[in-house]
This record gives sequence, structure tokens and C-alpha cells, in this order.
Amino acid sequence: MGDERADASQDFIRGLLASCGRGETPPAMALMRLAMAAADEAAFAAAVAASRDLPDADDPGAAQRLAALRALAAGAPEAWRLVRSVLAAVPHDASADATAEARLADLSAAFDRAAALSPEASVALYSFGRPELLDAATAEVAKYLGELGLLGRERALVDIGCGVGRFERALADKVGRIVGLDISPTMVEIAQRNCAGLANVEIRLSSGKDLAAIATAGADAVLAIDVFPYIVSASPALADKFFQEIARALKPGGDFLLANYSYRADDIADRADVARLAASCGFRVLRSDERPFVGWDGRVFHLGKEG
Ligand SMILES: C[S@@+](CC[C@H](N)C(=O)[O-])C[C@H]1O[C@@H](n2cnc3c(N)ncnc32)[C@H](O)[C@@H]1O
Repeated sequence: MGDERADASQDFIRGLLASCGRGETPPAMALMRLAMAAADEAAFAAAVAASRDLPDADDPGAAQRLAALRALAAGAPEAWRLVRSVLAAVPHDASADATAEARLADLSAAFDRAAALSPEASVALYSFGRPELLDAATAEVAKYLGELGLLGRERALVDIGCGVGRFERALADKVGRIVGLDISPTMVEIAQRNCAGLANVEIRLSSGKDLAAIATAGADAVLAIDVFPYIVSASPALADKFFQEIARALKPGGDFLLANYSYRADDIADRADVARLAASCGFRVLRSDERPFVGWDGRVFHLGKEG
């Protein structure tokens, strides 16, 4: 979803817009961060308008990317309100005193609230509640999974934190079977509705503590797309447990695709944690902290279970 909080100073706005102009921050992500940072709708509109004044706008590529940001803003007039209300529904700063169990219960309730506000924005804030924007982002990730060799009609996939089932729907005709797990009953309900009639898709409510529903060596690939930040925020020990569970659930040689490990804005610590967990659970790190997408800045780790 995205958890970066920022100070809506002019420097912040100019830096973000310049980064978008250089092609480092996708327009939708830049717009989402402007909405997260702006105190009100007028400040958001002013920040979007500031994209016209950037010196970089002389560069045709930069001008194009910033025009795409403005076009997104024009097409989603409710963007600021929606981003703010979904963020308010899913607090990202868990109390340090809460147990992992209490945090999982809070997260389940939070994602219930967010899904009720907007199924699309609850899984990807940068869709601004627009199904066509979410579909485009999903298609890009699905294509990438195919390029990595994770798909195939004989392959069984598990998707941890499946949300509204966008990957189940997109991948159903490209895999043998896919099981989506989620801790939020509302997400599960929506995902089941979205995947109705897809015989090789199963959506299950999960405790969020393990992969108890998945047989040992039952999966060819496990996906965890934008869910580990919540697992890590519930408890670092839970992240260790999930790595062990994923290693248990995968067949030898199976793939683990992790997109975003945490939202703590410390890339070095994320890479170190993933490397440590991979080594302790019998994974080879095939890709570490890559950003392969045009529309989303998800940071991808691809791990292979030792054969
Ligand atoms: C930001 S959404 C992403 C959903 C989906 N992966 C996608 O990209 O569309 C995060 C999802 O993870 C779920 N979740 C959070 N913690 C979880 C856990 N420990 N086990 C399973 N699901 C979890 C939430 O309920 C929510 O649906």
C-alpha cells in the first residue's frame, strides 16, 4: 500500500516531482505521496500544479511523466480524500506494547475498514480507487512473474495476503492452482466474489500467524506482494516464522517472490534481513531489492528454495 509519511514542505514537493520527472518515482506513486503529504485538498491541488513549473519539464521525457501525473490527478478528483481515508483506516504505527496477536487482530479490522472504503485503494493506494489503474498495475506484475518463470499450467501457487484477489483473477488461466490467504474477512469475501467461477482458485481466511492451510512441499511458488510490511510491523519474529513456513510449503527448487519487505525506509536493513532469513531457511537470493516495474515502485526479492 505505501507507508511513507512526509512533510509537505515545498522542498519535499519539488524533490518528489523532480524524482518523478527523472523517471525514478512512477507518476502514480508520486501522486499518492503528494496526497499523503498534503494537509488538505487545496494543498494537494497546488502541489500537483507545481509540476508545471519544474525546470526539468524542458526535458521531453520529464515533461511527459509530469503530464502523466497531472492526467492521473485530473482523472481521479477524489484522490486526496480517498488516500487520506484509507490511510486513516490502516494505521501504520502499531503500539510498541501490543502483542503480535493483538497487532494481527488490529490489522485484520483495519483492512476490513479499508476494503469497505475502496477495494482497489485498500490493496494499492496508488490506484486511487480506479479499477482500470489497479488492473494495469496487476497486469505488469503478472507479466513479470511469467518472465521469471513462476507461472505454468502445472504449477501450484500460494499468495500470502491476497487482498481482493487481484492476482488470483489475473493468474488463474496461467497456473494449475492458486490459493490466496488473508487475515481480513472483508478482503476474503471480496476476493471470493472476484474469483467466483474460477475453479482452480481457492481463497481462505488465515490466522496470519503461519501457512497452516498449505501442505508441506505443496507449492511451486509463493507470492507475498505488499504484505510483509504488515507482518514485520506485527512482529519481527513473525517475519522469521513466515520465512520458515514458506520454506516448508515450497517444493525443492520452488520460488518465493517477495515484493516490499518493510516500510521502515531503510533499504540496507531490509536487504540484510532478507539475506539473513534466506540463509537461515535454505533459500538462494536470486534477485535482491530490484525495482522492475514502470507503474509501481515495489522492491522485489526473488528467492529460490535449495533443490
Ligand atoms: C496492501 S494489501 C495487499 C494485498 C495484495 N497482496 C495485493 O497486492 O493486491 C495487504 C494485505 O495483506 C493482508 N495481511 C496483513 N497481514 C497479514 C498476514 N499476517 N497474513 C495474511 N494476510 C495478511 C491484509 O489483510 C491485506 O489484505
